[in-house]
Amino acid sequence: MVVLGTAFEPLQNFRRVIGDTFTVRSTVETARRGWRVIRTVQKLPLTPATMPLGVQVETTNYCNFKCIMCNREVLPGMDENHLTLQAFKRLIAQIQPAVAVMNGLGEPLMDRTIFDKLDACRRAHILTTMPTNLSFVRGERLERLLASPPNILQLSIDGGERTSYEAIRGRADYDQIMANFWALSKRYDHRSFHIRVLIALQRLNLGDFEPMYAMMERSNFNEITVVPFFDYGHTGEHFRHLQPMDGQVDATVEQINAVLPGTRGKRRNFYIRWRGAVQQLKPKSPQADTGTPICLLPWYSTYLDAKLNVYPCCFLQGSEHVMGNLSQQSVAEVWQGERYAHFRSRMLHDRGNLAGCRTCPQNDRATLDALRRLP
Ligand SMILES: C[S@@+](CC[C@H](N)C(=O)[O-])C[C@H]1O[C@@H](n2cnc3c(N)ncnc32)[C@H](O)[C@@H]1O
Ligand code: SF4
Ligand code: SF4
Repeated sequence: MVVLGTAFEPLQNFRRVIGDTFTVRSTVETARRGWRVIRTVQKLPLTPATMPLGVQVETTNYCNFKCIMCNREVLPGMDENHLTLQAFKRLIAQIQPAVAVMNGLGEPLMDRTIFDKLDACRRAHILTTMPTNLSFVRGERLERLLASPPNILQLSIDGGERTSYEAIRGRADYDQIMANFWALSKRYDHRSFHIRVLIALQRLNLGDFEPMYAMMERSNFNEITVVPFFDYGHTGEHFRHLQPMDGQVDATVEQINAVLPGTRGKRRNFYIRWRGAVQQLKPKSPQADTGTPICLLPWYSTYLDAKLNVYPCCFLQGSEHVMGNLSQQSVAEVWQGERYAHFRSRMLHDRGNLAGCRTCPQNDRATLDALRRLP
């Protein structure tokens, strides 16, 4: 399972929560499905016989925030759809995924059926992860969340201080979000589910490592993920203004280097991870120049938006990469259909010209090589 874990990030999460939340039956079933997917990935067929191991679902495209780096800002047709419970149940019955990621361009807790969806997954032994902007994590919804949590709940905190948080998370009420954060921290029991805090690094929060660590240290949560923000869009230019300014990356790296010698333990590890994410924001030449990177996602995962459109991944929404629509087709018809086969072929042979993927940093080449060395 080690190689599998590095290949499929969701499966790394399995290992963390497996003890409390997974039955032996579902663990064995996941390992069996995982093995079949590995076999598929080793050969990279254009039409895989195995259904996706994971599915990412936009349960709603309604959101109460207006974050400056969010793809909602450039896509039409937002605030229009909740995915019905019936459509969701049909989807998981057809795919029987090992993992469902309830994450699209909306706030999942604005979907009134989200807890029924999570319950349906739990009954079907499907591991769930779900992000939230925290604005509704209070009152009755907090109680429902604690009673029917996903296996992994991601708290999106995109700023370590009021100024950066409010500048990035448009329309957010910082005091309310912090009140919800601390209320959840107080009620949180590690044994029932896992909580991860996430920060998407960008120009306005690049130097927030100290306040972010201080917040984490005071809380009951013990995992924080730091990711460089992704510039959506075919040319990778929609959000160029959010890239760090000239010299800002180097200055932040120097700042971290200066405090590291006096820093120990978890704090030190956190600062080192932050520095790594900051360095990824340095401008680099586009993937098209190298010609060889591959992304394995189209062979083991799929993305469904709240309008039932299927895409290879959530970064490609609004592009020409609609693989089909589940109001007219079954998952198998889409997954094994001509459009997906064409997309996989282009991923293999023409990624440098594949809109969206051309500028995406995802590269699973090392994973593929490792999988191919397996007997
Ligand atoms: C799109 S939101 C949807 C769920 C929910 N509304 C929330 O904010 O948690 C999921 C996550 O994507 C992150 N995100 C949004 N735009 C991003 C970008 N351009 N690059 C990287 N992460 C991004 C957000 O910070 C959030 O953690
Ligand atoms: S809260 Fe989430 S979905 Fe809403 S605008 Fe922000 S990142 Fe996008
Ligand atoms: S290369 Fe990037 S944009 Fe393309 S399918 Fe993979 S993750 Fe999505």
